[in-house]
Amino acid sequence: MKILLVGGGGREHALAWKLAQDRRRPELFCAPGNAGTAELGVNVPIPAEDIDGVVAWARREKPDLTVIGPEAPLCAGLADRLHAEGFRAFGPCRAAAQLEGSKVFAKSVLQAAGVPTAQSETFTNAEKALAYVRAAKSPLVVKADGLASGKGVLICANTREAEDAVATAMIHQSFGKAGRQILVEEFLEGEEVSILALVDGRQAVLLPSAQDHKRALDGDLGLNTGGMGAYSPAPMETAAFRKMVLDTIFNPTLKELRRRDITYQGVLYAGLMMTAAGPKVLEFNCRFGDPETQVILPRLKGDLIPAMEACITGNLLPEHAACRPEACVCVVMTAGGYPGAYRKGDAIAGLKEAAALSETMVFHAGTKLAGKQIVTAGGRVLGVTALGRTLCETAGKAYQAVARITFQDAHYRRDIAAKGIKRNRG
Ligand SMILES: Nc1ncnc2c1ncn2[C@@H]1O[C@H](COP(=O)(O)OP(=O)(O)O)[C@@H](O)[C@H]1O
Ligand SMILES: [Mg+2]
Repeated sequence: MKILLVGGGGREHALAWKLAQDRRRPELFCAPGNAGTAELGVNVPIPAEDIDGVVAWARREKPDLTVIGPEAPLCAGLADRLHAEGFRAFGPCRAAAQLEGSKVFAKSVLQAAGVPTAQSETFTNAEKALAYVRAAKSPLVVKADGLASGKGVLICANTREAEDAVATAMIHQSFGKAGRQILVEEFLEGEEVSILALVDGRQAVLLPSAQDHKRALDGDLGLNTGGMGAYSPAPMETAAFRKMVLDTIFNPTLKELRRRDITYQGVLYAGLMMTAAGPKVLEFNCRFGDPETQVILPRLKGDLIPAMEACITGNLLPEHAACRPEACVCVVMTAGGYPGAYRKGDAIAGLKEAAALSETMVFHAGTKLAGKQIVTAGGRVLGVTALGRTLCETAGKAYQAVARITFQDAHYRRDIAAKGIKRNRG
């Protein structure tokens, strides 16, 4: 079996790692991949956003399955293009991917479906948006409608900041086309949790829950990043919580999509805020999260290919998402300075020593091969991941592995999973 995996981050290395263990032992190709995926298959030098390039490769090489990792190619219609040529692809079509690609679209679906979410107004006109934020109560959240690499959401403590945020998006157009429309949202307070589900067009089956750490520094301080680490399960996860999330969030959302004649197939990721009034949807993503995937896939009991095929054919079963009882923790090591300016091309040492520890996986993100040496090639460099009995023990294992890895100016948070550990004790 031949699989093409589109993407080249930590998520894709984790996907490649899980796919490589499948009993069908697939032949893996990764576009463009990283130094980690290069150990499990063949990297193909096609950027994930180069849809024409990916389709041309598929025509030539005829993969049995294409797994699309990142949001950009999904929102640009890569799954539609592959389907049109008779190829099987895991991931939603363009219309369904709009749940992530347009926050205005997602909000309209949430509202029509009666799913709990922040109150919000949509604007296409800067003057009207400014008038609204001047009259509204702070804090407010200003969100660019389109994909903005995690930079399009501005939390505004007061009216002045909200005015600036509107100007940033709509007048200075700092997010390009993505900011032509904006949402101005009520600010929600609480703890965040990521709930991902496999979806087969009709129904959703929840994967293990996870909690991400967005800020660069310990104690949730510093700038927002792509994610500094994750752990699973999230502390609020109980059977009752899972049932509530399925009944009040996933099922009504899928029903509303069907009403609009949109079929969702792939992973649907709900970013939730646990407010005093219950969980509310902050956003949807149309794909596996990064770094959530790095802690979800090691907990998945069964093979991934049958689960993905079941999503495509509409035969998904709860067993496809069955998970192991162990906890999983991923500590992201970044280049110093990230998410600001950072160095590239520094040699990474200790990868084998770290991976040799029991139940430890070192997932590559921004890495590449320079001759025989693995070097840094991005802001988020590695996701050092461990599986273990308790969250506390597992975090200890992950940090032992981190301690074996060195590169110039490496940075990581020392408190990944600390909130969950504290909650379990308390
Ligand atoms: N209504 C809100 N209230 C409070 N915080 C929010 C709200 N919306 C978003 N956030 C914060 O901003 C982050 C990014 O927003 P999100 O909607 O997930 O957009 P994206 O991931 O596309 O940047 C969230 O993880 C959350 O921390
Ligand atoms: Mg988000």
